[in-house]
This record gives sequence, C-alpha cells and structure tokens, in this order.
Amino acid sequence: MSTPAPTSFPKAAIKVLLLENIHPSAVELLAGEGFQVERASGALPEAELIERIRDVHLLGIRSKTRVTPAVLDEARRLLAVGAFCIGTNQIALDHGRGRGVPAFNAPFSNTRSVAEMILAEIVVLSRQLFDRSHEVHAGTWKKIATGCHEVRGKTLGIVGYGHIGRQLGVLAEQLGLRVLFFDIAARLPMGNNRSVASLDALLAASDFVTLHVPETAQTKDMIGAAQLAAMQPGSYLLNASRGTVVVIDALADALRRGHLAGAAVDVYPDEPEANSGGFASPLRGLGNVVLTPHIGGSTEEAQEAIGREVATALIKYVNTGATTSAVNFPEIELPQARGTHRILNVHRNVPGVMRDVNRIISDKGANIRAQILATDEAIGYLLVDLDQDVSHAVKDAVSALETNIKTRILY
Ligand SMILES: NC(=O)c1ccc[n+]([C@@H]2O[C@H](COP(=O)([O-])OP(=O)(O)OC[C@H]3O[C@@H](n4cnc5c(N)ncnc54)[C@H](O)[C@@H]3O)[C@@H](O)[C@H]2O)c1
Repeated sequence: MSTPAPTSFPKAAIKVLLLENIHPSAVELLAGEGFQVERASGALPEAELIERIRDVHLLGIRSKTRVTPAVLDEARRLLAVGAFCIGTNQIALDHGRGRGVPAFNAPFSNTRSVAEMILAEIVVLSRQLFDRSHEVHAGTWKKIATGCHEVRGKTLGIVGYGHIGRQLGVLAEQLGLRVLFFDIAARLPMGNNRSVASLDALLAASDFVTLHVPETAQTKDMIGAAQLAAMQPGSYLLNASRGTVVVIDALADALRRGHLAGAAVDVYPDEPEANSGGFASPLRGLGNVVLTPHIGGSTEEAQEAIGREVATALIKYVNTGATTSAVNFPEIELPQARGTHRILNVHRNVPGVMRDVNRIISDKGANIRAQILATDEAIGYLLVDLDQDVSHAVKDAVSALETNIKTRILY
C-alpha cells in the first residue's frame, strides 16, 4: 500500500463556519472534501462573530451577517468568505482584499428561476388569470374572452440579453413566441432570437417587453413616460431586474390610461428590508398587474445551486488558489503543473514587486514551470508553480517582502 503524499495543509485541519442556514448542498461538498464544518442557523452579532472567527479558515454567510473590518482583523486564519446569496454589500470587501481574503458569491445560480417566472407571467398577463382568480375567490363568476389572448405568435422583446435574458429567449420560443432582444454588448442570438438595433425599435415591435439589465447609471429610469408611450397600445411590461430601471409613476399612469394592458413587477425602487405589511406602491390595486415581493430568484432549486456554486468556489480556492467569480479579487485560475509546488502570493500593488519576486526565484535557482499574475488598483495576486526542492525557501523569502499581504504554499 502506498503512503499518501504529504500535503501542505491537512484538509481535516481546515475549519469552516457556515451561518444563516446555508443549504445542505454546501455542507455536503465541504464536509465531503474532508473539512471540519460547523453550522449555525442564524446570523451572529459582530462581537460573537469576532470570538468565533479566530480559528476559522472559511466563513459562509447569507445576507444578514455583517463581515466588518473588525471581524476581518480578528480573522487571522481566514482564507476566504463565501456569500451564499447574490449581494455582497454585507461584507467589508475592500478591507478583506487588503488582508488577502477573497469573497465569492453566486450571482447566476437563480437564472433559470427568474426566466421560468417571467415565462409564466407572460401567460398569466395575456389571459388576465390573476384578475379572474381574485374574482372567483371573491365569489364572482365572470367568464370572458375579450382582451384575452394566446401567446403563440406574439412578440417578446428582451432588454438585456445576459444570463436571464438568453435563458428566457430559449424557453419563450418553445411557447411559439417570436423573440427580439436589445443589449448594449454584442450578444450571440440563441435559437431563432433576433437582435434589434435600439431600445426604441424593440419597444415599438413587442407585445411583451421584459427587462433583464443590471442596475447602472445608464439603466436608471430607463423605462419612463417616453419609452412607455413608444410601446404598442395593449402591450405588457415585465420587470424582474432592478427597481430603479422603471419610473413607477409613469408605469402606473400608462396602466390607468389603458395604454398598457398589464404589467408584472417583482422589484421596486424602495423595497422593505424584512417581511412586513403595509407595502406602498402606486401600482397596488390596478387591474391585470401582477405584483410580487422580489421572488424572481427565490426557489429551493436556486438555493441548492447557490450552495453548490459557492462551496465549489471555496474548495477550488483552498485547493488551487483559483479566484474565478471572486468579487473583490483579481480573477485567475491556473492548471497545476505536475510535480511542482504552488506558491500563492497576495501583495500590495506597488512598482517593483515582480522584480523582487523574480530575484528571489532566480537567487534560489528555482525553475518556474508556470506562472500567472493579475492585479487591480490595490493588490496583485500571483500563482507560481515551482520545483519542489526550493519551494519552501522561495515561499519564506516572498513572505518576508515588505509588500507581502499573504503567501501560501500548496502541494
Ligand atoms: N428578481 C430577482 O429575484 C432577480 C434574480 C436574479 C437577478 N435579478 C436581476 O436581473 C438582472 C439581470 O441579471 P442577469 O443575471 O441576466 O445579468 P447579466 O449580467 O448576465 O446580464 C445583463 C445584460 O444586460 C446588458 N445591459 C447592461 N446595460 C444595458 C443597457 N443599458 N441596455 C441594454 N442592455 C444592457 C448587459 O450587457 C448584459 O448582457 C440584474 O439586474 C439582476 O440584479 C433579479
């Protein structure tokens, strides 16, 4: 029987703390990797997190745990933070980067959930299903066909042809919709989807307009009175992107005047932080308007996918140093050259660092088998695969550089 090769850091010594009921799919992967996984169902207040984090290598949170500079300063062993959600503004990202701690999230795990909801809403709006359902619940029998349509043969206009837009474009064709899209970036059309040259051209040609753009200065108030007027009379608007993209008062006005036949809105300029009553919106009470509380991506499948995606990114970072999908770190990935040791070095991004590192490597007579460097305005992140006999000496010398933030060795 062969003895296993020694590793730079035994996996069983890696401590993972998962807070806020992170999906079991993450626990399965992290524990399956041999890491020690501890879980807590809620978020921890700062003082308690500071106590718990001192010997933790990987921290997993959702939206309620605040990873403050004070927490990060105590987290001396912390390798990375996983945000098992979409947003990352609960983490002091710049501070983490300055301490060599990348944060990973899962922005695209709920793509399918959003696309399926929009597809359902297109049919719901076209048949006025929610209004009929409310009437029957209230005891009213109102069987009508006027103003109700099949969606087959109608035109769907997708604004923002990214992850969700493309997935929706593929699904919508299965229902017989003709799909147009507008994006500011050049995007390869899926299936028979066709791109149009401008937002105005898309608005004028579509029976349904659905928005899938990010929140940027350019998309703020992108759909206001003029754009709604450019839409066809009797058409529908759907927004499950971000609340700032649509001028809600203008939409309410277009619906009240009957210019639009309906709308589905999942996101709002002001959204409550927690589940509560008393949500106010000029859209409340309008006919054939589907209002949902930002649930486009909220499915159990998306939660499971988020668990898998973030856990996989954390494991890959521990095992290989890959930072693909990190939100506060230069993104790099390098297949490990056989028979080498890998040095991972995070340094302050100032002139001369690479000169110093290369001098160390050359002085030790080390042979570089592969190397990759990426930088941002604050840090540089370097992976070097080296001959095994000199790797420890190189690691020690690189760690001692004045520009060093964090250096690890992997084998
Ligand atoms: N309702 C929900 O629960 C929910 C869930 C997931 C995502 N979202 C939101 O959906 C939106 C889209 O998500 P995604 O994953 O498809 O993002 P993505 O980054 O994959 O795609 C966005 C697309 O919009 C394009 N774009 C940017 N600015 C544009 C402009 N001014 N005009 C036209 N196109 C423009 C980009 O080029 C890109 O192709 C985001 O705002 C995201 O926050 C909402």
